[in-house]
Amino acid sequence: MTDRTSDWSPLVTDPDGTYAQTFQDMRGRCPVAWSNDFGGFWALTKHEDVVKACKNPAVFSSAPQFTVPHLDLGFPWLPLQSDAPAHTAYRSVLTPFLAKPRIQGMVPQFRELARNLIAPLRGKSEFDASMEFAQPFAGEALCLALNVPEDMWAEFRSWTSNIVTAFSTGNLPLILEVSNAVSEYVTREIKDKSENPGDDLMSAMLQARVDGRPLTQPEIHGYYMLLTSAGHDTSSNSLGQALLHLATHPEHAARLRAEPELIPRAVEEIVRFYGPLIGLGRQAVQDVEIRGRQIKAGEQVALVWAAAARDEEQFEDANSFILDRPVTRSVSFGFGTHYCVGADLGRVQLAVAIEEFLTEFGNFELSGEVGRTIWPTQGIRNVPVRTS
Ligand code: HEM
Repeated sequence: MTDRTSDWSPLVTDPDGTYAQTFQDMRGRCPVAWSNDFGGFWALTKHEDVVKACKNPAVFSSAPQFTVPHLDLGFPWLPLQSDAPAHTAYRSVLTPFLAKPRIQGMVPQFRELARNLIAPLRGKSEFDASMEFAQPFAGEALCLALNVPEDMWAEFRSWTSNIVTAFSTGNLPLILEVSNAVSEYVTREIKDKSENPGDDLMSAMLQARVDGRPLTQPEIHGYYMLLTSAGHDTSSNSLGQALLHLATHPEHAARLRAEPELIPRAVEEIVRFYGPLIGLGRQAVQDVEIRGRQIKAGEQVALVWAAAARDEEQFEDANSFILDRPVTRSVSFGFGTHYCVGADLGRVQLAVAIEEFLTEFGNFELSGEVGRTIWPTQGIRNVPVRTS
């Protein structure tokens, strides 16, 4: 811990439960901000600085740390917790499962999933659009995309929600509990798929070679830990944000119902504007100066995607939600070599789920209190809605 004065705390949100005002203030007052939380860390809030850091893994490395706070479980969360050149091989294990043509070919399955989840909501005048639709949809769509057997879907989802809770509360025992459950699953699956290989993710991992060698069990464990968190919570939070936005902006819901071809553009704006994943981490491995602030080797640095996505120097009218804005230069899915490998899955899931929800529910409005999460996700846990 240093004796630096804290510029902000990620544990304190704006009165509305978001960080929009906080980040606007930080971009102007302390764009490279120090916080004493989580053992002390730097936060980069300007788009230009976030992009430069992503381009410079020799200074801002993902291998020692990829989250703030740092969670060291003794194995790397792959492919994120690695730097090139190893990262290229690690990432390539996932790309066939998440490639755009494959994901687009799965649209009918995602649509069926959405309709199945909507069916029991049809007769209800009130329900929780996050708990009863966004969260199960995102989890099940991820399992579908990764060919996870259906009897494991509920367990996958419980891992995700516990990992996310553990991250924001620093609850190490909870994350160890999830890690143990994932480890047991990985052990079972390795045995099963070694004997009966198929077209599923585990079989692909067993066939993969990194530097000419097979993946180790701790590495496979690390992939599953990352996928259960990065692959579910991001999409479920974005979908929750989308449904909250549409429940409180009926004019936007009406426009998307009338012009569904605008939905993909609206998805980009939702992810930019609401920044479901607030920030992830790097470790400075050399001393470096940014905007006059001295970052020392060994210090943790958060790349604050949600702040960069509203940088007034990059986006016109950055703090306004513009439904049909052509979003370019977004960093909400990251930037550079670690650019989100699941971005197409996230986008397609969101577009299908929004379209199905709008088709089914002609009118819906917010009917109670919104449940939100704090750093590192701007998550939505509850969106109670009333339909008419
Ligand atoms: C709206 C939804 C999503 C958002 C906003 C999002 C955001 C991000 C961001 C910002 C990064 C960059 C991390 C960094 O550089 O430190 C990232 C990477 C990653 N995301 Fe996503 N993500 C989403 C959906 C998904 C989905 C559905 C998957 C499913 C597999 C996924 C899996 C990953 C993985 C594995 C990485 C690491 C990539 C690498 O290291 O090469 N994400 N995501």
